[in-house]
Amino acid sequence: MVNEKLIQRYKDLFGDGWKIIQKMELRQSIRVNTLKMADDKQLISRLEKEGAKFSKVPFLPHGYYVDSSRFSLGAAPEYLFGYYYIQEAASQLPALILNPDKKDIVLDMAAAPGGKLTQLAELMENQGVLIGLEKMKHRIPSLRNSIERLGVSNSVIYNLDALDVSSLGLKFDKILLDAPCSGNFLVDNTWFDKRTVEQFKDRSELQKSLLKAASSVLKEGGTLVYSTCSMEPEENEFVVDWVIENLDLKIEKINPEKIDIGESASANINGKSLNKDVSCCLRIWPHKTKTQPFFIAKFRK
Ligand SMILES: C[S@@+](CC[C@H](N)C(=O)[O-])C[C@H]1O[C@@H](n2cnc3c(N)ncnc32)[C@H](O)[C@@H]1O
Repeated sequence: MVNEKLIQRYKDLFGDGWKIIQKMELRQSIRVNTLKMADDKQLISRLEKEGAKFSKVPFLPHGYYVDSSRFSLGAAPEYLFGYYYIQEAASQLPALILNPDKKDIVLDMAAAPGGKLTQLAELMENQGVLIGLEKMKHRIPSLRNSIERLGVSNSVIYNLDALDVSSLGLKFDKILLDAPCSGNFLVDNTWFDKRTVEQFKDRSELQKSLLKAASSVLKEGGTLVYSTCSMEPEENEFVVDWVIENLDLKIEKINPEKIDIGESASANINGKSLNKDVSCCLRIWPHKTKTQPFFIAKFRK
């Protein structure tokens, strides 16, 4: 049965964009692993000789769209050697926005399967300390595999509910909360059959609790980045509005011109008028960017 209620929400949220988004197919993309490849060109020309074609993602330092490939990029020797990670283009933005450096103590609160954790390790040049948490035991092997394959050596992972992060007794310079969210229909074609507005509200409560836990272990002056691949205002703008009102965190502007993709979020969404600083966040609208949707907020303590 077609979920008319949700489809109507999307017609209201996207306006004319709804027609575009229904026909959209996401392009596969990769991230060159700078821990193992000193020069992107070396890898790209090697894969091109084997029958793949790429174009550079203009807004990413090491991201490439896969234009075509005669072989499976998830089974190539170069993949198994950890020379690249298959990671959707917009999904490469949150780690770049957090921008950790090699002296930082960094926390990835929801880490499996490790796309962003391994990218954080690259940005830290495998130095500093990188802690990754994952609540679901069955998702730990995928995380461990990514860490080993990409050659990450500055990280420790815990099978731990991030709500209990304070039990580690650590404080962090930088935290990424790539939050558990309701996902989106561009990456999951059964999405409309299983999602309800009530679920978005439940996720929203979990996301607020995780942000509260993150704030409690962030050092004074430290940076927290919150991201989701959900398009639901309940999990994005409404959550940030709550943070502004309830947590001891100052929101920082993510400038779409500097990032070179996306646009500022709206403080008026789904008929609600929110704190105007919600517009400091970045919204990636898929029909405009031809990528996955993403929502990213940045806070300082
Ligand atoms: C959006 S995915 C993370 C994707 C990952 N950051 C990446 O880039 O590969 C969210 C993850 O959070 C995990 N998770 C859900 N609730 C959690 C919690 N309370 N504490 C820690 N991890 C949680 C899920 O099992 C899932 O692996």
